[in-house]
Amino acid sequence: MDLRKHLIAGNWKMNGTLDSINEILKIDQLCNGYEVDIALCVPNTIISKTNEAISHKKLVIGAQNCHHDESGAYTGDVSAKMLKDAGAKIIIVGHSERRQAYKETNEIVNKKAVSIIKSDLQTIICIGETEEEKNMGLTNKIVCTQLENSMPSISDENNTVIAYEPIWAIGTGRIPSIREIEVVHKELRSLVSKIKGKDIANKMRILYGGSVKANNAKDIFDLDDVDGALVGGASLNSEEFMGIINVC
Ligand code: 13P
Repeated sequence: MDLRKHLIAGNWKMNGTLDSINEILKIDQLCNGYEVDIALCVPNTIISKTNEAISHKKLVIGAQNCHHDESGAYTGDVSAKMLKDAGAKIIIVGHSERRQAYKETNEIVNKKAVSIIKSDLQTIICIGETEEEKNMGLTNKIVCTQLENSMPSISDENNTVIAYEPIWAIGTGRIPSIREIEVVHKELRSLVSKIKGKDIANKMRILYGGSVKANNAKDIFDLDDVDGALVGGASLNSEEFMGIINVC
């Protein structure tokens, strides 16, 4: 029996205005009836209106980052509680673009994940190695250290999803070999098992992200330890996104 329902989550990054809600509504209509879970993590500015517009049958709306405190003197930041108020159900943390551009450490990512879980939302914790680290044979070591330190002790299969995103595969059209993805996902699941126990590890979803398209998704989704995808560019277009969901 499959213990894990696949999740296809789109990460819109800094793309999308109120006009884009039409594209989201197409996805909202087309994705009904699919077995998999489907989420779109959109810019904060359109969460509320999008949430008002969707059917709430299958598609859930999420965010891409939050501050780790609930409120306070943090100019320009928003908390998990505020994103929940706007209608977000799931929040990405630790995306490599934030780890790199904003120097977000595992400790900060961990605190953000705690705040999300305490707000009764789900979090997607991202991890992934640089090309240089991959070339030095350090992939497993890097992603395991990231996971061990970014995943809070209160994480379980219901509130946390892990996303393995090799940094060099993001937006480049390049992906690791299927065997490489298999090895990393197996390693991550065995680490979750060591930290959380076998039961949680068997139920926790581990997504792959980085240049996922309809034409490469099948081989990735066929892997036992891959439970869906975190999709960037291809999630901006309803046809491309549905193409991936169809494969899944
Ligand atoms: P692409 O699918 O555009 O490579 O982006 C992946 C990603 O960063 C999702 O979070």
